[in-house]
Amino acid sequence: MNQKVLSLIGAVIALGVCSSNAQDAKVDFETQILPIMKERCFDCHQKERTDENGKVKKPKGKFRMDSPQLMLKGGEEGNDVVPGDAAKSSVYVSTTLPDDDDLAMPPKGDRLTKEQQELIKKWINEGANFGAWKGAAD
Ligand code: HEC
Repeated sequence: MNQKVLSLIGAVIALGVCSSNAQDAKVDFETQILPIMKERCFDCHQKERTDENGKVKKPKGKFRMDSPQLMLKGGEEGNDVVPGDAAKSSVYVSTTLPDDDDLAMPPKGDRLTKEQQELIKKWINEGANFGAWKGAAD
């Protein structure tokens, strides 16, 4: 085995150690979950607004995700975030559905990565703690 291969193996082992440490730590909403939601969900799940083309955009499924209260309140179907139970929470389940399912979220663009899905799952199972995040005031 040459030096390159050895250092590669070293790096893989180090990565494994780091990620197992990361699994012990609790998920932090503002640094780990909010960025995913801002990038992939908020466009369709925030306060009604007028976009740059003058088109009124209402929150889809009557579901707003731009504050803790609104996320917990949920939308049309409800059970969007059930703290402690990701399997019942559509915010998690919808991200895992197959592409052709009507409720697969986000409905446009790439699916969330497996890592992102797992983070959301872990965050909800840990109690869906929003930390200091307040989000939209109205
Ligand atoms: C391109 C717009 C769009 C994006 C982006 C989007 N959604 Fe949706 N979402 C919808 C639409 C449309 C519905 C209503 C679907 C229906 O009722 O058939 C919906 C409904 C939902 C519902 C059900 C709400 C209820 O109580 O009825 C959940 C949960 C949800 N979305 C989660 C997410 C999550 C999590 C993300 C980001 C990973 C996301 N959505 C991104 C368009 C979007």
